[in-house]
Amino acid sequence: MRFDSYSYRSIARVYDFLAAVYSRGQIGATKRMQIDSIQTGNRVLYAGAGAGSEILMAARFGARVTSIDLAQEMLDRVASRFAREGLSCEMICGDVSSHKPDELYDVVVVNYFLNLFDLEHARVMARHLCSLVRPGGKLLLTDFARPSGGPIAALICEVYYRPINWIAWALGFCALHPILDYERLLEPMGFRIHSARRFPVLIGANPAYVSIVAERNP
Ligand SMILES: C[S@@+](CC[C@H](N)C(=O)[O-])C[C@H]1O[C@@H](n2cnc3c(N)ncnc32)[C@H](O)[C@@H]1O
Repeated sequence: MRFDSYSYRSIARVYDFLAAVYSRGQIGATKRMQIDSIQTGNRVLYAGAGAGSEILMAARFGARVTSIDLAQEMLDRVASRFAREGLSCEMICGDVSSHKPDELYDVVVVNYFLNLFDLEHARVMARHLCSLVRPGGKLLLTDFARPSGGPIAALICEVYYRPINWIAWALGFCALHPILDYERLLEPMGFRIHSARRFPVLIGANPAYVSIVAERNP
């Protein structure tokens, strides 16, 4: 099974801007709240890291950060932000599915990453990422939220999500698939969902993004 098909190198410069516009700032909000789940001195892995300011926030807070991404262009953007502040971060350019650290992480952060893959690949990748969290440690995950409510809620989410999934798929940035159900995915992997906060894009509960805090059973 391969996981190296969806590098974002060609859009590294504009990815954060596009995400902010499309989500009306809510993608950033889902990631900023993660700092509440990170403690000074934690070993934190950002899987499919991108170039977001949340990585810098964690380092400013005293976390020991590792960023892994297929796209060197994304890592370069993170590196220049770190350099400006005199902070350090381990940067690994490559496929996170082959990452085998000597020591497990206190926190593994998976932002808008598992949704690149179809369900089968997402399940295998999730299992790998879960295996990198120490017992009692945390998995922090953000993504599109599943509909909250009946058929109208499902329709609203589909209208918001499906066209962007088609476009991203056509451009080679992800697979085609429904919005993933992380509770069903993570609980059999030995994780308990501690919280799942929704961030609606407009007025009303749908469509929305979700920021999940899950804990690995001790
Ligand atoms: C949708 S972007 C999300 C970036 C970042 N997590 C964020 O929230 O802004 C997905 C990122 O995963 C990276 N990526 C894709 N497949 C990967 C893999 N197998 N290993 C590591 N990074 C990967 C892409 O290059 C891209 O930067």
